[in-house]
Amino acid sequence: MVKVTVCGAAGGIGQPLSLLLKQSELITHLSLFDIVNTPGVAADLSHINTKSKVTGYVGTAQLEEAIKDSAVVVIPAGVPRKPGMTRDDLFNINGGIVRDLAIAAAKFSPKAFICVISNPVNSTVPIVTEVFKQFGVYDPRKIFGVTTLDIVRASTFVSELIGAEASQLQVPVVGGHSGVTIIPLLSQVVGTSALSEDQIAKVTHRIQFGGDEVVQAKNGAGSATLSMAFAGARFTLNILEAAIRGTSGVVECTYVHLDADKEGAKAIKSVVGDDIEYFSVPVELGINGVQKIKPLGNLSEYEQKLLSEATAELKGNIVKGASFITEGS
Ligand code: NAD
Ligand code: LMR
Repeated sequence: MVKVTVCGAAGGIGQPLSLLLKQSELITHLSLFDIVNTPGVAADLSHINTKSKVTGYVGTAQLEEAIKDSAVVVIPAGVPRKPGMTRDDLFNINGGIVRDLAIAAAKFSPKAFICVISNPVNSTVPIVTEVFKQFGVYDPRKIFGVTTLDIVRASTFVSELIGAEASQLQVPVVGGHSGVTIIPLLSQVVGTSALSEDQIAKVTHRIQFGGDEVVQAKNGAGSATLSMAFAGARFTLNILEAAIRGTSGVVECTYVHLDADKEGAKAIKSVVGDDIEYFSVPVELGINGVQKIKPLGNLSEYEQKLLSEATAELKGNIVKGASFITEGS
């Protein structure tokens, strides 16, 4: 039995994400939870002739049944941005939503891999950590902030510049998931050495603020949903590929607590500073989630500068998320 629960399954991300997950042979039970509309979404998806059984649950009274015994809980529940807002502006409402879903996961699915999509990711991941600590079920190897959309965007935008095949282009993006905390490591991508400083700066800015591009284009109707569903499905299926199928060498950049691999984290901390607790890093996935935190590799002078611009905001976001639980919300 491999049960995957999507919390926020009737939403802009939740629906296409569930559709993509429905196509996987690795999932036997796709459980859809939302506070509205899940019975209809579940009935619709359940007619697709792929392996997984689909069930829908609506409202908090059904949350236990929805979430219990999950292998993976994916959380795209919460409100999206409108033009003019930062991700941090979503903190008060989404922080409470993520806290309540994390409580249910800690009680009824304490061993699940938790994939947090809800913004602000830099803060919602520490919220999940602190909830799991309070329930005595914390394992830093199993709690992930999904930053895959930054990597997907980076591949697309950089390939447009250097003429490479986007789907084959690996662009590491580290740090956090908001504006200047997003740090693309373009110097590590073959083919970028021909780019001018100006081109590097412009594409870096586009990757950092790619979310705003979509928010503005949608003009009040939300933020990225379809590209996020693609990215969220890729991440979730990679978790399952490593954990369930046992495939080795599956590497994704993801936002984790650096305690997930204390040995691997030493190299990260020597670059980003000892006082950074969470960072999106290249992670090798395994049967227990984070198997190895890999080094960041060489950073150019420009990337070092990006790093120093990111850390203050990231630290503030982390403290805000953790204290939402530890100091009461
Ligand atoms: P949406 O409003 O279309 O959908 C959100 C869904 O969550 C709705 O169906 C809503 O009913 C549901 N929901 C609200 N409270 C809930 C609760 N307590 N339990 C379960 N479900 C609940 O929004 P969206 O466009 O799907 O975006 C969702 C979140 O994902 C936002 O916070 C957005 O900022 C974030 N996001 C993150 C990334 C990323 O890269 N990590 C990318 C895009 C969007
Ligand atoms: C994104 O990067 O598209 C998401 O974080 C949504 C947003 O608010 O920009």
